[in-house]
Amino acid sequence: MLIKLFDFNVLGDERGHLVAIEGNRHVPFDIKRVYYLFGTKLGVSRGFHAHKSLQQVAICISGSCRFVMDDGLNKESIVLNSSTKGLFIDIMQWHEMYDFSPDCVLMVLASDIYDESDYIRNYDDFIEVVMHA
Ligand code: TYD
Repeated sequence: MLIKLFDFNVLGDERGHLVAIEGNRHVPFDIKRVYYLFGTKLGVSRGFHAHKSLQQVAICISGSCRFVMDDGLNKESIVLNSSTKGLFIDIMQWHEMYDFSPDCVLMVLASDIYDESDYIRNYDDFIEVVMHA
């Protein structure tokens, strides 16, 4: 399955909603880093890489954006527009993000700190690694 979504429980009361995400409980890894994309300019697309060992979960906590997930054999697209759903970005999943709404805040939980050497940023290199896996 290329698209794997986690459904987060909404805790809340008459004051409003609250979502809590714990590492190794609600996502399948220790959360070592959180980053978020916001203010993405109209027409901009991002991503265009895969990771050798990093696992991530992307949650669109405001607005919407579209992900294209690609494992080298199949491609699938999904619109993220819910603060209670997390898209799993497993290792060796080429991903591209499109159609950011102006109010989009895309939060990403990551299993490790930033490491440029974990990125595969060239699609041909990605396919090469997939073929030899
Ligand atoms: P980049 O990986 O190009 O973003 P995307 O692939 O989502 O389009 O990251 C943009 C810049 O931010 C790049 O210079 C690397 C830097 N960066 C960090 O320093 N730490 C991080 O955790 C991330 C995700 C990016």
